[in-house]
Amino acid sequence: MSIAISQKKDVFLLNTKFTSYAFGIDDQGLVRHLYWGKRIDSVEDFEMPVLVEVSTNDPVFEITKEEFPVYGSLRYKEHCLKATFADGTREVVYRYCGYEVTETDEYEELIIRLQDTHYDFEMDLHYKVYAEYDLMERNVVVRNQSEAPVQIEKLHSGQFHIPYEDLNFSNVHGHWGAEHQRFVQKVSYGKIVIENRKGISSHNHNPYFLLDRDATENSGDVYFGALRLTGNFSGVIEQTQFGETLAQIGMNSHDFTLELKPGEEFEAPSILCGYSGTGFETMSHNLHHFAQKYLLREGYRPVLYNSWEATEFNVHSKEQIDLAKKAKEIGAELFVLDDGWFGERHGIDNGLGDWYVNESKFPNGLDELVDAVKAQGMLFGIWVEPEMVNPKAQLYQDHPDWIYHFETRTSDTSRGQYVLNMTKKEVQDFVYEMLDNLLTQHEIDYIKWDANRPISQTCLEKDIWYKHIRAIYDIVTGLKKKHPNVLFEACASGGGRIDYGILGIFDDFWTSDNTDAYDRLYIQDAYSYIYPIKAMRAWVTDCPNFLSQRVIPLKFRYHSAMMGTLGIGCNILKFTEEDIELSRQMIQQYKEIRPIVQEGDFYRLENTSENRYFLYEYLKGEEGLVFVFLPQSKVGHRGVTVRLRDLDPEAVYALQTEEGVITKSGSYLMNRGLDLQLKGDYASTIIRFAKENK
Ligand code: GLA
Repeated sequence: MSIAISQKKDVFLLNTKFTSYAFGIDDQGLVRHLYWGKRIDSVEDFEMPVLVEVSTNDPVFEITKEEFPVYGSLRYKEHCLKATFADGTREVVYRYCGYEVTETDEYEELIIRLQDTHYDFEMDLHYKVYAEYDLMERNVVVRNQSEAPVQIEKLHSGQFHIPYEDLNFSNVHGHWGAEHQRFVQKVSYGKIVIENRKGISSHNHNPYFLLDRDATENSGDVYFGALRLTGNFSGVIEQTQFGETLAQIGMNSHDFTLELKPGEEFEAPSILCGYSGTGFETMSHNLHHFAQKYLLREGYRPVLYNSWEATEFNVHSKEQIDLAKKAKEIGAELFVLDDGWFGERHGIDNGLGDWYVNESKFPNGLDELVDAVKAQGMLFGIWVEPEMVNPKAQLYQDHPDWIYHFETRTSDTSRGQYVLNMTKKEVQDFVYEMLDNLLTQHEIDYIKWDANRPISQTCLEKDIWYKHIRAIYDIVTGLKKKHPNVLFEACASGGGRIDYGILGIFDDFWTSDNTDAYDRLYIQDAYSYIYPIKAMRAWVTDCPNFLSQRVIPLKFRYHSAMMGTLGIGCNILKFTEEDIELSRQMIQQYKEIRPIVQEGDFYRLENTSENRYFLYEYLKGEEGLVFVFLPQSKVGHRGVTVRLRDLDPEAVYALQTEEGVITKSGSYLMNRGLDLQLKGDYASTIIRFAKENK
C-alpha cells in the first residue's frame, strides 16, 4: 500500500519507492502539510505541530503549512483559490469532512473532501500516487452545490512546501525560434513568478517548477512539479520569512473568472510532481518513464520528411511527389506536406479556414500526392492550423462572428490571422468535421497541428483561456477515437505547446522552428530535463540556417537531430550525391539505434573539458549510445573524459568508436571513464556500445 493513514492522528502518508509526502488534519479542520522528501515508513511518527502566533502582526497563517490555502481570514501569502459567492462574500472558510481511497492497476488515489462552513461549496483534493515512478499527481475539484452561481477568480492546483531557504529555481525562458533556454536563479526573500498570458503555453516559460539544493545530475535534493495544462498558467515561488519555500502552479488568474453554475463542478489541471534525493537525472528518468508508460503511444516514431523549409507556401503536386521519392531514397518513412496546400494560401495572409485542396497546386487532387507517397511505402502527413482564420478567407466572410472579438473593438491580426472562438459549439463542430472529413477522405497517417499566434480580444467570457485549450483536447481526443492510427504533432510556431497537458493527447512536439544544429543542442538539453525524448521532433535542415545563418557540416546536423525523433527538412532535390549517400547512412544508422534513442534512458553526462563538449548517453537494457558533440575547439584544445552512467559494473562492454572497438568493464567506464578528443569545429560522433556475452 502506498497510502498509509493514522486514524488516531488524522495523518496521511503517501509513499512511493523512494519518497514520502505527508499531511494531516488539525483541530480546526485545516489540511496541513507535514513532510516531502526521502522515504519514511511509519505514519505514526508524524505529529501535527501546535502553532503559536508569531506576533499580532504575523498571524498564525504565516506559518501554517497549508496544502491548499484559500483566500480569506488572516492569510496574506499566495492562495490557491479565490471564490466570490452570489451575495458578494469573497472569502472561503473550509473544514475537512472526510477522505476516500481508491485504487487502480496504475495508482492509488487519496481524495480529501473539504466543505465550506456556510455555502454549499466543496473542494476535493486529489493525490494519485504512482509508487513505481516516484511521482504523484495532484489536483483539485471544486463543486458548487448551492442554488446560486459562484465565481472562481483564482485556482492553482496545489501548494508545495519545501523546508529550506536559498534554493535554486530553474525553468526555461525564450521566444519564437529560441525556446527552451534553461536558466537557474537563486531564490531569496520575495517571489519569483513564471507565467504565460498568451493562450499558447510555452514559448516564454514552461509550466513547471524545479527547485534544488545545489543539486547535480547525480546528487542533491530536487523538488519539481509540472502542470498538465497547455493554456495560460502561472507558477509562483516564494521564500517566506519563516524558513521555507512555497511553490504553487496552476491556471493563470490574469483576466480569468470561471463561473460555476448551481450543480456544476470543475476539475483543475493536475500537477505531476516529485522529489529526488539523487539529483536531476532521477527526476528526468521518473518523468520520462511515466510519459513512456502512460502518455506516449506505443511504437517507434517514424523518420519524417517535411517539405516546409524546402518549398514553403509554394507547394505543387509534381514537386512534392519528386520530394517524396527522394525522401524515400534516403530512407524517410513519413512524408509531411506542410502549409500552403489549401484555399488561396500563397502566403501568411490568406487561406486559413478554407480547408479545401487548392486546385491550381493539386490539379489532380490531393490523392495524387497521397497515392504517390503510399506507392513508395511511406506514411502521409499533413499540416493544419484549425484554430485560425485569415480575414480574407471565405470562412471569415461567412462567419465574422466566429473569431474572438469585442463588439465595440477591432480584433488584432497577428501573422495576418484571427483566432477562432473555440469555446463556441458551432466552431468546435466545424473544426472537428473538417478534420474528420480530411482524415476520412484521404489516407492520412499524421497531422501536424499548428497555432501561430497568441489569443486576444477574448470576448466577454473570462474563462476562454482555459476553455479554448480544453476544446482542442476534446477535438483531438474525439478524432483519435475515430481514427486511432493517426499520430498528432503539437506545433505552435515551433515549441509553443510543449507541456504535460497536451502530451498524451498529441503524440509529438515540434520542438522549435530553430533547426540550427548547434542551437538545438541547448534547446534539446533543456527540454530533456522534463520531457521525454520520444516526443522531441528534431530535423536536419539546409545551411546556411535560415535563422542563425550558420553553416554546419551535414554529419553534425544529423547527429544533433538523431538525439530525438529524426526528421529531415532539407530541399533534398538539391542534395549532391555525397549528401544523399551520407543521408542514407545516417538514416539507416538512426533506424538501427532508434529503440535506444526513443525508448532508452537518457543521461546528460558531465563535461570535464575546458572545451564545451555536449555529452549524452542513452541506455536500453544491454545496449547504449554516447552522443559526443564539440561545436568549437579552443586553442590548446584538450579532450574530454566521458564517464558513463548506470552500467553493470561487473560486465564487459564493447564500444564501437570511429577508430575501432574498445572493450572495458562497466566499472571502468563509469569511474575512470573514456578519454576522447574530437578534432576541429562542429565535430561529432555517436559511439554504440553493448554488453558482451560471457
Ligand atoms: C509554423 C511552424 C512551421 C511551419 C509554418 C507554416 O511556423 O512552426 O514549422 O509549419 O508554421 O506556416
